[in-house]
This record gives sequence, structure tokens and C-alpha cells, in this order.
Amino acid sequence: MKFSGKVAVITGAARGIGRACAERLLADGARIVIADINAERLATTVAEIGNPDNVFSYVCDVSKKSDVDDLIAAAVKKFGSVDIMVNNAGIAMIQDFLDITEQDYDKVLGINLKGPFFGVQAAARQMIAQGHGGVIVNMSSINSGLANPKVATYAISKGGLNQVTSTAAVAFAPYNIRVVGVGPGTIMTEMVDGSFIDSEETRRQILSRTPIGRCGKASEVASVVSFLASDDASYMTGETIYPDGGRRILNYTVPVED
Ligand code: NAI
Repeated sequence: MKFSGKVAVITGAARGIGRACAERLLADGARIVIADINAERLATTVAEIGNPDNVFSYVCDVSKKSDVDDLIAAAVKKFGSVDIMVNNAGIAMIQDFLDITEQDYDKVLGINLKGPFFGVQAAARQMIAQGHGGVIVNMSSINSGLANPKVATYAISKGGLNQVTSTAAVAFAPYNIRVVGVGPGTIMTEMVDGSFIDSEETRRQILSRTPIGRCGKASEVASVVSFLASDDASYMTGETIYPDGGRRILNYTVPVED
């Protein structure tokens, strides 16, 4: 069990990719603290994936620094340490560039960029105090480096997040804390179903940019998170890697099967 004795905190873990990461790290032997703003869904997830000895849940809004600080404190109180932090919670708003209001901008950037920034800070502070290093994984997106004006706030937040990853990696390397990012392509979760993919046309558009020919599964992101959080990735820090079915490196498009 590669994470036995380790404690992992995962935000946005009530469903989707966060939940898959929680299940994977749990299966790899970690005790996990799962956090989400959706208390009801979080309670269901806890009941479905673990027991009080290995799973603890905490309701929090990652866009509030005090909630994030309290999350880390609660994790330490419950399980004694924080060794892996996965800043996964995120939202997307699909809208025209000129329709984006100040409120929309603050909302998306608050959850997707400010949230992980203070998540990194709080986790790193705790890991430094513990004195034996740790790993922080930030959930980015292929949209961090591709321009889709329909999700401008999302793309801006994820672009900024990659710089949170790289600046923090340099800041905390002396403490044996690695900070890495994962930038998925299109993964079939509730976030995507009905928003990013809202019609047969958008599905075909996405697949025309996906050489592997299908959308990803949340577990295929979780396995990358598990690798990055493990000693198998001990010489990696500051990078964001992309489980995206080949989208980022594709020039033009590929044929889509019916
Ligand atoms: P999802 O919408 O299924 O799950 C997100 C979770 O975050 C939900 O449980 C939600 O309640 C929680 N959350 C939202 N706001 C929060 C807040 N303020 N504080 C705490 N929790 C909050 O989304 P999905 O698809 O699982 O995405 C997870 C992460 O992966 C996000 O950061 C997203 O940007 C990223 N991602 C997803 C991709 C996809 O295709 N599904 C592709 C690339 C990145």
C-alpha cells in the first residue's frame, strides 16, 4: 500500500474527479479527508466509500481562506498530519466574453484560483511544520493553455493555477514538498455532461480534437494523481501533466466515428 501511514486531503471530493481521487488514494492505503461545499452529497460519498477510521469529511467553501485553513486544521486534528493535498474543487461558467460580470469573474477565480492558492499555502505551512515533506497536486485543465472564449474565466483561472503550481514548487522545494498539476482533457463528470457537452455537435467537436477517440473517465485522472503523489514521481515538481487523450498536442482535427 503505497500511501499507508499518509493522510490525503482532497477538495471538491463529493463527486466527479475529486471523488475518484479520494477512492483511489484510499485504495492505495491513505487515510483521507474529503471536503466539499455540498454537504448532502459529501455525506452520501463518505457513506459509500469508507468508514470513520479512514475517511473524514469536512464541509467547506474553498473560495474562503478561513475555510481552507480550518480544513487543514480539522484534518490534522482528526488524523494527525497532512501529507498529500489535492486542490481539486472547481467550477466552470459557460458564457460569452462580453456577458461576464464582475460577480461571475470573482466567483470563478475565487473558487478555481484563490481557493487552490490558499490551499497550497495552508498545506505547505502544515507540511513544513511536520518536517518530512509532502506532495500538493493542483487540478488544472487543458483549458489552462488553450483559448476558448466561451469559458474565459475558467481558462484564465486554470492558466493562473499553473503558475501557482510552478511558483509554489520553487518556494517549497527546500522543504521536500513537491507541487505538481494535472490538466485533464474532457472527462465525463456531471460538470461536463450538459455544460461543456450540451449537444451532439459539441460532443463531436470535442472528439474531433481527441486522438484517443473518447472522453476520459474520472478514474483515469485519479491514477495520474496517485502517481504524482507517490515516490514514483519523486523527481517531478512544478510541472502540470495532461491526461487529455492527446488533445493538447494535436494540430487540426481527427475524424470522428459515428
Ligand atoms: P464536478 O462539478 O463534478 O465536481 C466538482 C466538485 O467541487 C463538486 O462536488 C462541487 O460541489 C465542489 N465544489 C464546487 N465549488 C466548491 C467550493 N467553493 N468549495 C468546495 N467545493 C466546491 O467537477 P469535475 O468534473 O469533477 O471537476 C473537478 C476538477 O477537475 C475541477 O477543478 C475542474 O475544473 C477540473 N477539470 C475537469 C475536467 C472535466 O472534463 N470534467 C477537465 C479538466 C479539469
